[in-house]
Parts: sequence; C-alpha cells; structure tokens
Amino acid sequence: MSKVATIKIDGKTYDLPMVVGTEKEVALDITQLRGQSGAITLDPGYKNTGACESAITFLDGEEGILRYRGYSIEELAEKADFLEVAYLLIFGELPTQTQLQKFNTDILDQSIVNEDMKTVLKGFPQTAHPMGVLSSLTSALTAFNPKSVNVDSEEDMYRAIVKILAKFPVLAAWTLRKKNDQVLYNKDTNIGYVESLLKMMFQDDNPKKSYRQNKVVVNALDKLLILHADHEQNCSTSTVRIVGSSHAGLFASISAGVSALWGPLHGGANQAVIEMLEEIKADGGDTSKFIAKAKDKDDPFRLMGFGHRVYKNFDPRARIIKKAADEVLGQLGVDDPILEIAKGLEKTALEDPYFVDRKLYPNVDFYSGIIYRAMGIPTEMFTVMFAVGRLPGWIAQWREMRLRKEPIGRPRQIYIGETKRSFKEIEKR
Ligand code: SDX
Repeated sequence: MSKVATIKIDGKTYDLPMVVGTEKEVALDITQLRGQSGAITLDPGYKNTGACESAITFLDGEEGILRYRGYSIEELAEKADFLEVAYLLIFGELPTQTQLQKFNTDILDQSIVNEDMKTVLKGFPQTAHPMGVLSSLTSALTAFNPKSVNVDSEEDMYRAIVKILAKFPVLAAWTLRKKNDQVLYNKDTNIGYVESLLKMMFQDDNPKKSYRQNKVVVNALDKLLILHADHEQNCSTSTVRIVGSSHAGLFASISAGVSALWGPLHGGANQAVIEMLEEIKADGGDTSKFIAKAKDKDDPFRLMGFGHRVYKNFDPRARIIKKAADEVLGQLGVDDPILEIAKGLEKTALEDPYFVDRKLYPNVDFYSGIIYRAMGIPTEMFTVMFAVGRLPGWIAQWREMRLRKEPIGRPRQIYIGETKRSFKEIEKR
C-alpha cells in the first residue's frame, strides 16, 4: 500500500502520493497538485525540492554519509582509482579488468584535440580565468564533434562519453599553459589518466626535457578527483541536467556545468578559501577577527569552505582531505603556514555557537586548495581541478536523465509584478 499525504487548501482536501527511496528518503509527489488544486509549491534555491529520482549518489547530510552507487566514499578513496570510479558512476558497476582496459583504451583513442581548438584558445587574453576558458573550450568541442548524442543508441552514447573524458583533461591542462604562455601538449598515451594530466600541465616547453612524475602527487590527485567525482543534485550538476533536458548535446551541457561550478559559493570556493587564508596570514594570522566578520550580518564576508546545503555534519570528503593534507605536505616536505591557520580557524569556528547552532562544518573545499598548492598547482586552477574530478558525475547524471527520458526542465513561478494596465502615449505619462 503506497503512502499518501493529505493537504487541505480552501477547505478542500487533496491526496498526494508519497515516494520512498531505497534509503527510506520520503517525498511528496506533487506532479498532479496544480492540476487538482491550481496551487504550485514555492522553494527558492530548491532547498526542500527533489528534482528527480536517481540511482547514482546517496548523501545523508545529518550523518555525513556519501556513497557512489552504494560504495562508501571512504572505501573508494582508499581502494579504487579515478578511472574505475568514473566507470562506476557512469555505468553503475565497478569495471572488470577487461572492461577497465577497454574503457582506458577507448579514451586514449579519442584524446587528440583538434588543432583548430588551439586557435580558439589563442583568442583569449592571458589574464582570462581558466574556468571561463575551460567552459568556452568545452562548448567549442561541439563545433568539432557536431553529431549530437543519439541517446537511444548505447554505442553513440558511449562514444560521446569517452570523447569528453578524453578531451576535457587536455583542455583543462591547456588553460594553465595559456596562462603561462607555454607550449600546448596533447596527452601522452603511454601513461595513466592522472599522470598524463599532470604531464600536460607541467611538462617543460622543451619536449626533450623529460617530465618526472611524483608518485605522491599522482596518488593525491587521483584521490582528490575521486572525492570530487559526484555529489548528487548540486548546483552545477542540476545545471548539466537542465541544459541536457532540452536535448542540448553532452558537451554543451558540460560547458554549462563548468560555468555553474565556477561560482565562489560552489566549486569556486576552493580558490576563495586559499585567498581568505592568505588574507588572514597577511593580516597577522588573527582568525578571531575573520570569525567575527563571518558572523556579522552586515558584513558580506563568509567563512569560505564552511557550511553546506546538505551536510549538517562533517562533509566526509573534508575529513579525508584534511588527513591527506597532513600526509601529502609531509611527504612533499612542504611546510605551509596556512595549513595551521586553516586548522586554527576550523577549531575556533567549531567551538563558536554561531557555527555550531547553524551546523556549519568544513566542506570539501576547505582543505583541498592546500593540497593543490603543495602540488604546485596555481590557485586559479583549483576549480579547474574540481571540474576534472566532477566530469564523470556530470556525465553519469546527464546520461541517467536522458535514458530515463526526463521532461524538459521548466519550473513555475509566482508572479508578483503589476497587474493588467493599459498603455499610455508618452505625453500622457
Ligand atoms: C560545494 O551542493 C553541493 O553538493 C556542493 C558541493 C559539491 O560537491 O558539488 O559540495 C561543493 O559547493 C561546497 C560549498 C562551497 N561553498 C562555500 O564554502 C562557500 C561558503 N558557504 C556558504 O556560502 C554556504 O554555506 C553554502 C552556499 C555552501 C550553503 O548555503 P545555504 O544552504 O543556502 O545556507 P544559507 O546561506 O541559507 O545559510 C544558513 C545560515 C545563514 O545564517 P542565518 O541567516 O540563518 O542567520 O548559515 C549562515 C548564513 O548566513 N552561513 C554562513 C556560512 N554558510 C552559511 N555564515 C558564515 N559563513 C559561511 N560560510
């Protein structure tokens, strides 16, 4: 017997069917509400509104739980590698050795980026933010791969998926090379997915100079990409879904997701955290002054890297990254004073009623920038690294939305403007 919720509007009662998920989450199905009662629901920022049913990622914000296709983020970060997790998110199961090898080979076969894309890149000023360049280049991919995805063909869908997984890291690396006015390399197809990204980013302009991989950096980046790979219906993923719901292509949808991720309230927070920590350091390291600013309603300053729409407990990714920050900086022999400032800020905030009462904890962005910095990745590239990590999640969610034949996204509104009035000739106004 399915559950029903009864609501009363102007004396009339309406029964709304309830939806219960595999983790016992409960929703009111309001698809018939307007037709029956004329009323809609209103929920700015969709804080209490589910946009879809999904089998990809489960979050429990109260308990600080994150699972990809049922596997805990802790296990995946410890035991899997990024390409395995990408396969899991997109196709629903961890790959066999054969499946992973084929996936990797198919990606490598697609990793050359059309030379004309370098002409597109040349059009940007060197001062352009890498996220703006990445979003544009990703959209430009459509020009060189005009066939939009026929989602009814598994083969077509698979081809588009391996194409974007192959080319996106190249474009991401090119955004750094552009900033540094350096030679643009394509992927070295003899090394791994993460290794080739690092090599394209940091290889010397003289190709004869060999690039030495640092295993600590490779392992740390692989783990960071896993931790960023998906996060159910966050702002950028919802953007990818809604753009894709108009049957726009996969590349165009991903490009829109990159733009949404760029915002400092979302993926751009990892850059904003480091800028905030640098400001605190330059100001003498007095964290209490910045805590006071964050609490002051008249001050627009927010404690970047703190708070989350869903997590009202520790973001499990932040726990893993905080531990990794100590390990990676230790292994690299990097002594970065802002790590201690970050820990001090966290400790002070977590003892302050303002943050405790609002359940504001460090999120995924609070410590990640400290690791990226220790790896020698420039601050403006932090959100690009987030995008490379989030790519499999965007793909998985877009594919699920299309395969489930979800309708085009078109929310309603409540109009609060002028009621009907007649036009007056200009001299009569
Ligand atoms: C990501 O959604 C996802 O899953 C995102 C993400 C992913 O993997 O895709 O996890 C990645 O985007 C992480 C979040 C990165 N952003 C930041 O670190 C920016 C700083 N954080 C905030 O701006 C804020 O916490 C948000 C945007 C993350 C969440 O905002 P909400 O859910 O809209 O909460 P809110 O703004 O309504 O805040 C509730 C209260 C308010 O105070 P009151 O009006 O109740 O008095 O908490 C306060 C806010 O002022 N508050 C903060 C704060 N975050 C919330 N006060 C100071 N500093 C902060 N960081």
